[in-house]
Amino acid sequence: MLPPPYKIKVVEPIALAPAQRRRRAIIEAGFNTFLLHADDVFVDLLTDSGTGALSQEQRAAMELGDESYAGSRSFFRLEQAMRDVYGWRHLVPTHQGRGAEHLLSRALVRPGQLVPSNLYFTTSREHAELAGAVWVDVSIPEASDPESRHPFKGNIDVGKLRRLIVDAGREQIAFVRQEACLNMAGGQPFSLENLRAVRALTRELDVPFFLDGTRASENALFVKEREPGNEHRTVAEILREIASLADGAVFSSKKDHFVPIGGFAATDLEGVARRMRELVVVYEGFPHYGGMAGHDMEALAQGIREAADEETVRAYVGQARYLGARLEELGIPIVVPVGAHAVFLDAKRFLPQVPQAQFPAQALAAAIYVAGGVRTMERGIVSGQHGTDPYHGLELVRLTIPRRVYTREHLDYVAEVVERVHAQREDVPGLEMIYEPKELRFFQARFEPLQPFPAFELSESPEPELVPAG
Ligand SMILES: Cc1ncc(COP(=O)(O)O)c(C=O)c1O
Repeated sequence: MLPPPYKIKVVEPIALAPAQRRRRAIIEAGFNTFLLHADDVFVDLLTDSGTGALSQEQRAAMELGDESYAGSRSFFRLEQAMRDVYGWRHLVPTHQGRGAEHLLSRALVRPGQLVPSNLYFTTSREHAELAGAVWVDVSIPEASDPESRHPFKGNIDVGKLRRLIVDAGREQIAFVRQEACLNMAGGQPFSLENLRAVRALTRELDVPFFLDGTRASENALFVKEREPGNEHRTVAEILREIASLADGAVFSSKKDHFVPIGGFAATDLEGVARRMRELVVVYEGFPHYGGMAGHDMEALAQGIREAADEETVRAYVGQARYLGARLEELGIPIVVPVGAHAVFLDAKRFLPQVPQAQFPAQALAAAIYVAGGVRTMERGIVSGQHGTDPYHGLELVRLTIPRRVYTREHLDYVAEVVERVHAQREDVPGLEMIYEPKELRFFQARFEPLQPFPAFELSESPEPELVPAG
């Protein structure tokens, strides 16, 4: 495989905080990696959101940012880029993905209606529910099986979706949502065949169908690689077909559009676009900037074009695969197949001694940080539990790869740190939650260990030995 199609021009220094400082830092952060200070982090695999490197073309485009409140030239360039790559008619810009989720839910949901979706995403579900909807999972069962090698775990169970809509009645469905490279299942794609079936069903039953288009570029690459008949198509062509199969989409552009901030909703549905434009002025800003500065919109317009570049997408997915392969060689339990943007550790198999009610993925993320300054994210019961129902879903730690940022040496280091924790896994205790925020609790919850937390055998090189010259 060819190396990535870019070289590094600007660098940001990072340093490994001493072991004692890391132990202090995780205690101060309440064993929640979101609450660590970046200064205490060495390799930051918390998220791929807003953490990618801008290209020189994006930085150059930012100079053209038009900060006009209304009628900004930058908006029209952004609109053109979105139409060229995806093809929808209407664009409503927002400050980031959840801004778009908010507008879409407010535009489409009547209290009591259902939103069927492949699994869930935290902010997407939150906004649908704040608007009064009931979230319903219609993913295929393989999505929740970390050991299933199904190539398209992002697929929707079309039979289940049909029964749901028919039983509830179409007026009871706010919209159907399908997420590209399904984050909570491990970054798993949907197939074009499945998407076409969902499109046909939603047309037949007259229900709006929206994508969460975040990471659609990587999804297009998976389709090319795995779905017969697509091997000779470009990622750009597949991306365009994906977009043509839905009434619209919401995007967090902080991922595959390579921007630190930004997002949007796009649609062909005139009435939905109108309602979102009415709402955007209340919550985000004028429809010609929606919470972004002019220079943000310029970077985004260029980023949208780069997201359709096959080699760029391939290099990125290749990094996740590389890390996944290293971890599998080491016998570490991960979600297979490796998905788009991250390697997900299966905490239930990694720490079988910790029951799910004691937050094994949260504990494992804390342990990986203490062992080597690598910041990862819990994607298990803390993120997944909702209301008072018990949660028996996936219990994962996400090692997320920022785009165009880290080298293979960084990834090798991460594998070593995970191996170190694995060697001492029996010592990792469960946690107790001592502070639970009401909304999206995983961001700010605080924990305490139920037994002393291990220090780990640290392999930081000691002071270099002084050897006599000569
Ligand atoms: C699939 C998916 N949808 C929506 C969002 C929300 O986007 P944002 O963080 O830009 O608000 C995210 C972000 O993590 C995401 O991964």
